[in-house]
Amino acid sequence: MDTFIKLSKINKYYRMGKVKNQVLTDFSCAFEAHCFAILAGPSGSGKSTLLNILATLDKPDSGTYLFNREEVNFGKDKALTEIRKNNFGFVFQSFNLIPVLTALENVALPLTLFNYSRKEQTERAVNVLEQVGLKDKLNQKPGELSGGEQQRVAIARAIAANPKIIFADEPTANLDKRNAENIICLMQRLNTQTGMSFIIASHDAKVIEAGKEVLRIGESCLKQGGN
Ligand SMILES: Nc1ncnc2c1ncn2[C@@H]1O[C@H](COP(=O)(O)OP(=O)(O)O)[C@@H](O)[C@H]1O
Ligand SMILES: [Mg+2]
Repeated sequence: MDTFIKLSKINKYYRMGKVKNQVLTDFSCAFEAHCFAILAGPSGSGKSTLLNILATLDKPDSGTYLFNREEVNFGKDKALTEIRKNNFGFVFQSFNLIPVLTALENVALPLTLFNYSRKEQTERAVNVLEQVGLKDKLNQKPGELSGGEQQRVAIARAIAANPKIIFADEPTANLDKRNAENIICLMQRLNTQTGMSFIIASHDAKVIEAGKEVLRIGESCLKQGGN
């Protein structure tokens, strides 16, 4: 299978006053198309940092990122926006839905960035909400939905423009056991049926178990020091 993401010797640190917190040290990894990969590791190990770099939402301090064999230039915001728009979908721990909009409107909103007619936007939104089992809740607002349903709306929103990769940061962290399992099953089904890749940061044992590839972010890339 094709390797479509390759990070080489990535370094990332945060500086808090005089203290330098090196989160990723010469970190390399690769992902293949259609992957269902989990970034696992304890809290504070750098899962979100790595996921954000992979999703081009954050910049590494050094190292290279190849996307489809082309180097990503983190200095070019416009190019990064294009990469994200054409390839990536995002799912967050806290769903990040707009409270005053219905499920349908939440899913349709990001589609306004593309050249779809109003009718196509709605059709796509309805279609993906059906795929996540929310056909009957199109006109409900987030506050009228359970946590599990809200996360399914967020997944529908992420897949609506048919991205190649979904990046999810702790997608089950705010859900009870049953809803968490439903969300894992849903992501697995989408991965199998559509071939969409998933890269998921999680410390949830059930999510890690579901991974086809598990990347453990451990002590080796967690270094804290004062220099
Ligand atoms: N914006 C930030 N500013 C300063 N330190 C940060 C920032 N984001 C993360 N960190 C630190 O980087 C380390 C890794 O954080 P994070 O990537 O969020 O880990 P995880 O997602 O595995 O819990 C932690 O020590 C955290 O405190
Ligand atoms: Mg995190």
